[in-house]
Amino acid sequence: MSMPGHAPPVPAPPTLLEPDLLAADPAGLADVGRLVTELTREAASALRRRSGPLPALTPAELSRLVDAQLPEGPLPRTGGGRSAVLALARSFAAHTVDLADPRAAAHLQPPALSVAAAADVLASVFNPSLDTWDSGPYAVEIERRVIRSLADLAGYGPEADGVLTPGGTASNLQALLIARDTALGGRADVRGAGLTGLTVTPVVYCSELAHFSVARACAVLGLGEDAVRTVPADAEHRMIPAELARSLANRAAGELPIAVVATAGTTDYGSIDPLPEIAVVAARHGVRLHVDAAYGGGALFSDRLRPLLAGLDAADSVTIDLHKTAWQPAAASALLVRERRDLVASTGLRVAYLNPDDDGAEGYDGLLGHSLQTTRRADAFKVAATFLALGREGIGAMLDACHDLAGHAARTVEAHPRLELTTDPVLTTVVFRYLPHRAADAAADPAGIDEINGALRRRLLREGTALVGRTDVADSVRLKLTLLNPQATTTDIDELLTAVVRAGMSEETS
Ligand SMILES: Cc1ncc(COP(=O)(O)O)c(C=O)c1O
Repeated sequence: MSMPGHAPPVPAPPTLLEPDLLAADPAGLADVGRLVTELTREAASALRRRSGPLPALTPAELSRLVDAQLPEGPLPRTGGGRSAVLALARSFAAHTVDLADPRAAAHLQPPALSVAAAADVLASVFNPSLDTWDSGPYAVEIERRVIRSLADLAGYGPEADGVLTPGGTASNLQALLIARDTALGGRADVRGAGLTGLTVTPVVYCSELAHFSVARACAVLGLGEDAVRTVPADAEHRMIPAELARSLANRAAGELPIAVVATAGTTDYGSIDPLPEIAVVAARHGVRLHVDAAYGGGALFSDRLRPLLAGLDAADSVTIDLHKTAWQPAAASALLVRERRDLVASTGLRVAYLNPDDDGAEGYDGLLGHSLQTTRRADAFKVAATFLALGREGIGAMLDACHDLAGHAARTVEAHPRLELTTDPVLTTVVFRYLPHRAADAAADPAGIDEINGALRRRLLREGTALVGRTDVADSVRLKLTLLNPQATTTDIDELLTAVVRAGMSEETS
């Protein structure tokens, strides 16, 4: 209430993105179209001026540039309307990673398909959620069908189910939640009493090359990272089934194995654990088998590479990241389970304000009980659009093209006197290193080689000319190409490796 004699302050009018503020009405939708056209035009012209996959700036230089461009930060008191957004788009496109550049080859982060990106815009426009039927009816049905298609590809039967999650980390977490609850006699016991009264020690088996999300999941689930029992891998970076069997047989008194996690596509090597043999060992010990196929799951789309996943259907659950080897914008990971009942036993939920029993009985049911999330994006929409547009073979051909590029890169590395191949590629990654000029010194000074390999990668980052990955092999630095651009050519790969060698030589002489 205003005081007599004091005029109330007049609030400044908000600056709206005229003419229409809200996306999902006909006029708003037309405006989204115009705005997307303008944004993409700005982005395209910025992209054309780029000379590499990264900006040629150090992290500190980039930070100063953003400070200069957004002096008030991204939350000024009043809005700048369309022109502010266009300027941001220009700058973003000029300075973020350009994954479509064939010299971007560091991470399991593919260039997104245009059809998926466009579909994702529409998912944002309508903003449905998958938790209840009435928050996103068609989206809920689409996700059910996407999961069904993936379950069929994995060789699962009619009892299978699954859910889309924000990533392989989240899918592995949910898989181990299910494993924990199944092994400990049902969620109710664990949820009610927690893990404090346990008389057993739950443990999880995976190869020494399993993704760190397995250990993180164990920590989140109250088992502790110490619950992970790592099994040695062979020279081809695959879990050794006999070692798994030995480890299970020799476990300490009181240990309760709740899951074996096999990896189908290790992050660095793309190696695939021997699934049929591991399934036999897990079954013999009555332990659940989860397959982390976050990376390798894409092989299901390819006639050529699918045989690598033989035995996948024996797994109780599988993680497949469509934002890795199905070229989806993040996020789009799938957790598949062979038995629907295992999934809903862990996350099934009735909530009065969302999905009461009587609504559910009449079919008004969403996917709340499938997920650890409540509000959940319709990521299935872009996936369905991609599946419909390209079909299984279209996606498979993309993976085959990247697999071919990896083969070419490996042969080129092998033939180059200054490069050393660590191991033959299985999927689309190539691990190698640069050898300094005085190769004899290499053996004498392994730390020197490590230093040069680390520095040459940073030099390429700083120049913005190439983005290669890095990892460790037995505590020694290696470089890695993660090839996920199906439009790259063998010439692109040759140029990328030439850039690596040039950067290595510059580091040696600097
Ligand atoms: C084998 C494997 N599992 C899980 C993950 C985690 O996936 P996300 O980054 O989608 O959480 C990765 C990521 O690279 C991976 O390589």
